[in-house]
Amino acid sequence: MGIRKSLPQDAYDQIADVYASIIETKPHNAYYERPTTLSLIDNVAGKSILDAGCGPGVYTEWLLNHGAKAIGIDANEKMISHARRRTSDKAVFYHANLEEPLTFFADSTFDGVLSPLAVTYIRDHKKLFTEFSRILRPAGWFLFSTEHPFFSYWYFKIQNYFETQEVSCDWKGFGEPVRMPSYYHSLGAITEALSDSGFVIQKMVEPKPTEEFKEEDPERYQRLTKFPVFICIKAIKLPL
Ligand SMILES: C[S@@+](CC[C@H](N)C(=O)[O-])C[C@H]1O[C@@H](n2cnc3c(N)ncnc32)[C@H](O)[C@@H]1O
Repeated sequence: MGIRKSLPQDAYDQIADVYASIIETKPHNAYYERPTTLSLIDNVAGKSILDAGCGPGVYTEWLLNHGAKAIGIDANEKMISHARRRTSDKAVFYHANLEEPLTFFADSTFDGVLSPLAVTYIRDHKKLFTEFSRILRPAGWFLFSTEHPFFSYWYFKIQNYFETQEVSCDWKGFGEPVRMPSYYHSLGAITEALSDSGFVIQKMVEPKPTEEFKEEDPERYQRLTKFPVFICIKAIKLPL
């Protein structure tokens, strides 16, 4: 049975192969978002971790390499094929849409849910985070990165800061330009969805680019040292 098409399905169909081939060294990911997100992960050896919106599996591979039992979900089959290849079939992958209930996971299944750069494609954060809370054990963690709302507010010329709304822009860094849709969420929409679904924020970090970024792209490096594009949030599920 097929799944409901995700908002950015067509865009990721177009760029999946290029995305998978360059993501290990693409500066915004490799030398900006990923180092900060990974710095927020404690020891995962022996832990069950869900990689939600796993894409081509760079994080899934990292989790496996650090001793975790990793499970990936993505709505894009091309991305899942890349993830399977990257991890030599050592992780389990589900082709599933994060907008829908994750009924194939029992309550309290995971020690952690990791979701880098994926929640921006889901309009209803409270529904998604409530589902993540359900499948996490008490005191389990939920770590995600997403566009910084202040960046998106400026970049998409948002007229109403508070209104969650669909936005789109041209991505030019993955071969032929592609129109990429996503959702804009205010900082309050993100943080209130967390507290409304039983999480407490442990740490919120605005990434800074690394020295490798400076070598690769000095101009963007300068910009990122002055204004954030992404934000990383680690939240903990409150014990009931
Ligand atoms: C920017 S990529 C991030 C991939 C990976 N987390 C990383 O950081 O390398 C976003 C991923 O989210 C997936 N995605 C978007 N909407 C989704 C949805 N509704 N359900 C599941 N996956 C989704 C896309 O297919 C894509 O693989």
